[in-house]
Amino acid sequence: MSESSVSDTLNGFTPEPNAARRVVVLISGNGSNLQALIDEQTHERLGGEIVAVISNVADAYGLQRARDAGIDAVVLPHGEYDSREAYDGALIKVIERHEPDLVVLAGFMRILSSRFVQRFHGRMLNIHPSLLPAYRGLNTHAKALADGVAEHGCSVHFVTEELDGGPVAIQAVVEVSEGETEASLKEKVHAREHLIYPIAVKWFLEGRLRLEGEIATFDGMPLPPQGMRMSHADAAEELDEE
Ligand code: GRF
Repeated sequence: MSESSVSDTLNGFTPEPNAARRVVVLISGNGSNLQALIDEQTHERLGGEIVAVISNVADAYGLQRARDAGIDAVVLPHGEYDSREAYDGALIKVIERHEPDLVVLAGFMRILSSRFVQRFHGRMLNIHPSLLPAYRGLNTHAKALADGVAEHGCSVHFVTEELDGGPVAIQAVVEVSEGETEASLKEKVHAREHLIYPIAVKWFLEGRLRLEGEIATFDGMPLPPQGMRMSHADAAEELDEE
């Protein structure tokens, strides 16, 4: 085959790129976890694209983070709906318009209706500031300190109808120091959240992390109840902590 016939064959041939996996992020506030995801996306390390950020709070700072990154930022204020079901119905419509492979809750401060949870079953992740199943709900850092625990941390989990109760994908541990305050603990946990959430999202988008029945799996193997664990030492090293 001559060179010209090779190039003739290839002329006009554009390989179909694999469609990028699509992510919709829901927020209510600051959006520092959203920022961690955006940063990974910027470096092409997320394994997909954040196609929209939706907030139920109009002045959530995370919306600005989205706009700064050129991501569609949508406000859907819950106050304009008569019931949780009506709001969640509207939210489903807005989310589905963006055809996501994954819905990421990143500080979305709403209880979700069962219809909403079922709609995105197996493709919705949340991050929670505790080593689940310890300290579900709010004020996790204060509760951990009050109990005098030696270890605290954060968890990424699949969302199920049980509040903060879905199968855990990954956790990061922080050792509670002498003289720890709620603020210092929160800061350390937050830094770990920013490490593990992008990892979990990437694993999901690559098809490595899945929800099979009621069990989270990684590369086809069931994960233990606490998911993958990043130790205090490993996280501290990543974060250049003292
Ligand atoms: C985080 O602490 C997360 O664990 C919880 O809400 C907070 C959101 O923080 N679900 P940010 O808005 O991402 O800064």
